[in-house]
Amino acid sequence: MPAVARTTAELARLRAALPGPVALVPTMGALHEGHRTLVRTARERAGSVVVSVFVNPTQFGPGEDLDRYPRTWDDDLAALTEEGADVVFHPPVEEVYPPGALGVTVDPGPRGSVLEGAVRPGHFTGVLTVVAKLLGLTRPDLAYFGEKDYQQLTLVRAMVRELALPPVVVGVPTVREDDGLALSSRNRWLSPGQRATAATISRALRAGAGAGPRGADAVLAAAGAVLDTAPELVPDYLALTDPDLGPAPVAGPARLLVAARAGSTRLLDNTAVLLGGPR
Ligand code: PAF
Repeated sequence: MPAVARTTAELARLRAALPGPVALVPTMGALHEGHRTLVRTARERAGSVVVSVFVNPTQFGPGEDLDRYPRTWDDDLAALTEEGADVVFHPPVEEVYPPGALGVTVDPGPRGSVLEGAVRPGHFTGVLTVVAKLLGLTRPDLAYFGEKDYQQLTLVRAMVRELALPPVVVGVPTVREDDGLALSSRNRWLSPGQRATAATISRALRAGAGAGPRGADAVLAAAGAVLDTAPELVPDYLALTDPDLGPAPVAGPARLLVAARAGSTRLLDNTAVLLGGPR
């Protein structure tokens, strides 16, 4: 069983004794196969793996799903024991956000207010602030994030690069159900009918990626046409960008991102696209 740290002091004590290189896998718990894959991938390169399990309140806006976000600590600890994590950091909120703090946060820059950031104002300030704290507390050599939250991964990479933070950020491909649905802690809220339609999102992405050689308009049209076959899914956005979330190039690597609501559950997914054929 991994050692469990509930306080930053316990984490510091445990961290000091870990053989390197040390990897950090930040999570909000409710662990599924996607998280397990992050831990397993981290294991391949790291001497020690630290996993944080912390539902970060500052990345949820008013009226969002903070209160109903699944908290499954016993199952999470069992999964992390099976995966061979060395240390689990599972702090209470006051340990991460102590009373009396002056409230310094990380500004995600302009790419933090598009896509997810436009739908969820302030979300990436909360994400980057807690990730910066977790990096500071854990001092990892490597930090692992899923590609499913592609904008999050892009902004974490940018924060680490532009603020000259030490760890190497590793992005791990999305883990999917057999029908293509990207694994997410929120999938558990889908009704059977919503679950059946949710796979339309990954089908739309595959159709979009397949149209890559015909250019950006064809990609968006192909993906949009598939999404339109599922009126139960309400898209928040379907966007084609460059790999850093800037404007899509005419040709070359791009990213196709979608967010859609099935009832009150938001589903995100994305894929790499090569526009205009190989360069
Ligand atoms: O992806 C998540 O689970 C969270 O956004 C993260 C990175 C753990 C920060 O709270």
